[in-house]
Amino acid sequence: MKDDQINSDLEECSSCSEARGSVISRRKFLGRGALAVGAAGATVAATGGLGLLTNSFAGATTPPPTCATVPGTVKHPRGTWGYPTGGLDPAVCAERAYHKFFTLFCCGAVMDGIIGTLQETLGSPYTNIDTNMFKFGGAGINGWGTVCGTALGAALTTNIIAGVDGTVDNGSAMSNDLMAYYAATAMPVYVPVSSEYTTRGGTCPAFQPGGTFPTSTAVSPLCHVSTNKWMKAANSAPVHPSYTIVSGSIERKERCARLSGTMAYKTVELLNAWKAGTYTSGAWGGPGVGNPGGSPAQNNCSDCHTPV
Ligand code: HEC
Repeated sequence: MKDDQINSDLEECSSCSEARGSVISRRKFLGRGALAVGAAGATVAATGGLGLLTNSFAGATTPPPTCATVPGTVKHPRGTWGYPTGGLDPAVCAERAYHKFFTLFCCGAVMDGIIGTLQETLGSPYTNIDTNMFKFGGAGINGWGTVCGTALGAALTTNIIAGVDGTVDNGSAMSNDLMAYYAATAMPVYVPVSSEYTTRGGTCPAFQPGGTFPTSTAVSPLCHVSTNKWMKAANSAPVHPSYTIVSGSIERKERCARLSGTMAYKTVELLNAWKAGTYTSGAWGGPGVGNPGGSPAQNNCSDCHTPV
């Protein structure tokens, strides 16, 4: 009853362009919250926690300035959001991530490939996340060329979904594995089912379906290092004799889109293993140690120091 009142108030909130979507997820969210808190939920109702929100809108002649939050809601600690028994299909998430790259960039693509799939299969609380927010991770966080956005998106995803089990932080361990996998692997691995390359104006056969796509191993999780090593490899491969691939080229974008698919695929494989109880960490190693004081570093020192 209260939910309905809140929902109708929120639907009047003209300043929130996604009011209706928020309302739907909030309804689910409250439903789950009430189940989860039990007696505590009754306390909130008795003390007027939800009523306050309702009353503050009741009789108002103008909509509230922003969509209100719901006081007393339940937190969703990492690791408790849910994951399907039997896992997700890595190929489905990878293909979704590949296509999303062209609107959300690398970090958002991996997030949406997996979290977006969970929004559609499990609903709340995943539906409370707007995956557009992860566009910031593009090109090493807003173009700064630091950590590759696909590794960042993978890390965010595993740390929401897996969290700590007993004394083992599986979310964190998987995000380390994905950094190490990224650095150690000839990328991109994923081959899309439906190619964006030709429809976006690409003409080089190597990048079209069935072509021999150039790969490179970054030996680093850094966007700048990884991207440039790949462009160097691609330009020295006999892929497109008539011009040079630069960062703005559709070929480079196709590579980063496939990389998003690759990382989404591997992330789902690890999550599925975790769900099945067969995950073990450390398959690709870990970071290096920068100096006697132990400063954080990637494990390939020679990218920047010659010799170390
Ligand atoms: C991404 C580039 C990069 C990587 C990779 C890197 N370093 Fe560095 N490192 C730097 C920079 C930049 C400095 C600061 C140099 C300066 O200002 O003199 C530095 C400083 C150091 C210093 C201090 C040097 C001094 O003169 O005080 C040591 C020691 C060091 N790095 C060791 C390592 C080791 C060991 C690794 C691999 C585990 C590593 N670094 C990886 C960029 C890097």
